[in-house]
Amino acid sequence: MSIALAFDIYGTLIDPHGVVTELQNHVGERATEFSRHWREKQLEYTWRRSLMRRYADFGVCTRQALDYADRLLQTELDQSAKEALMRAYRVLPAYEDVAASLEILKNEGHRLYPFSNGTADMVSAVLENAAIDHFFEDVISVDSLQVFKPSPETYQHVVEIANVTPQHCWLVSSNGFDVSGAVSAGIRAAWLQRLDGVVFDPWEFEPTTIIRSLRELPDKVSSG
Ligand code: 2OP
Repeated sequence: MSIALAFDIYGTLIDPHGVVTELQNHVGERATEFSRHWREKQLEYTWRRSLMRRYADFGVCTRQALDYADRLLQTELDQSAKEALMRAYRVLPAYEDVAASLEILKNEGHRLYPFSNGTADMVSAVLENAAIDHFFEDVISVDSLQVFKPSPETYQHVVEIANVTPQHCWLVSSNGFDVSGAVSAGIRAAWLQRLDGVVFDPWEFEPTTIIRSLRELPDKVSSG
């Protein structure tokens, strides 16, 4: 039976800190600091909105986190700068190990799904720009559920859309909260530890496997 592989997008296949290039045009040497605050607050807003039952889509969370970082760092970005930065979020780069690894997995007969907090429109745009959209089945976005990862409904949704048993479904993510959420919901999860120094949460939910590059994934998936 082929395996369904659900790939997290931002931070896993696509580098959210790719916005630093555009940020440098607006905030200069504070670009990296700004990007870190922006990303951290973007994710925090998804968790808070899910708990508050006040869903707004990932584009809204991303824009409001941009406004937060601008206010925190007192960078006084104008509307056109913010619109340029939001446009940059639709053309973020893929990591260098992505295309070759997806090609191998696709050729092995597995079904690959983008699985993201992002809306289908956001995800489709960024995958098309990165020229990796052709590897995938339909986008699986949490937007149809109106709740964000790591809510268990989001992982159950993946299993339903992929029409597989949980034993034939993997999540692949660099985001620890996503991996522990998937394991907690009963599906296997590969934690992609892209950076040295990033540690996994010391909870009762451990990754099924840990990889440092997507190049390691084909062997891990085929060995079960
Ligand atoms: C994603 O859902 C969590 O940002 C991550 O793509």
